Amino acid sequence: MTMTALKTRAHPAVEGGLQLEVTNVSLQTESIISITLADPSGERLPSYVPGSHLVVQYGSGVNAYSLTESGSAPSEYTISVLRVEDGAGGSVAMHRLSVGDRVYVSRPRSAFAPVSTATHHLLVAAGIGITPVLSHARAAAERGIAASLIYVYRPGAGAHVADTRELLGPGLIECTDRGSFQKVLTEHLTTQALGTHLYVCGPAAFMDAVLDQARELGWSPARLHSEAFGAAPLDEGEPFTVNLVRSGVRLEVPAGVSLLETLEKAGRSIPNMCRKGICGECSLSVVRGAPQHRDLYLTDQEKAANTTMMCCVSRSEDPELELDL
Ligand code: FES
Repeated sequence: MTMTALKTRAHPAVEGGLQLEVTNVSLQTESIISITLADPSGERLPSYVPGSHLVVQYGSGVNAYSLTESGSAPSEYTISVLRVEDGAGGSVAMHRLSVGDRVYVSRPRSAFAPVSTATHHLLVAAGIGITPVLSHARAAAERGIAASLIYVYRPGAGAHVADTRELLGPGLIECTDRGSFQKVLTEHLTTQALGTHLYVCGPAAFMDAVLDQARELGWSPARLHSEAFGAAPLDEGEPFTVNLVRSGVRLEVPAGVSLLETLEKAGRSIPNMCRKGICGECSLSVVRGAPQHRDLYLTDQEKAANTTMMCCVSRSEDPELELDL
């Protein structure tokens, strides 16, 4: 896709953002590339919190990608993109970008920030989930904060392996099979001091398994942090019920159907744009119950407050949710 001048309008999810130029594209693995973006006139870019992501426009759609640098005083942004052949087309479009192309991006958004009071960061990543975790590792190294990383990837398919080796040295444990990963994870979860915080990124089932094990071993929710890929296919989730308290309507949300779709089928008009948990347009107020947040829009604090949810991707931890509708 060669487009030195942008011919499309900015998607609402990236409005107020930046127009950047591709300055480098490099191959990480057979299916993962790193793309570097910079201001065309050489201006410094807004700094960001480690673990932040950018919303990037491709054609008429948008996707979110984690930034892989530490975020301090950046002159460029770097993202890594896994090519997904049967996805919505965003990653394939990103893989067609060349140096000199221009793209619309949002300002960096933080939903997976390191905790400043942590004495140690235990980072756990699977596959392309390495990207936000790499940002955490870089920031920890710059700031002199202790960090270790358990990185699981398929043999020969690990992105940023050289970067993580250089950054973490003996603090990096690489696993290329499930058995060794499970052993290493258990060892680490059972030997950490109370000041350690756990950060995990990867496929939903992987994250659930890591977080479940940590909870079973007594880790408090405040020490557990995860980054879901809102733009990637999400699992279909469990069915749940919503009560719309202002209208007195009760609706069943089946597995595999989003709350947004359920509300639309019931004749409710809910503003929305991306339908991927990225833009924040479909926000609903929660009166009672705990949403299962799967978006990339709300911050960790907003998610913990459980007063707002993105109904296009998020579901319910409880059998019932009450919404201010
Ligand atoms: S429609 Fe964009 S976050 Fe739901």
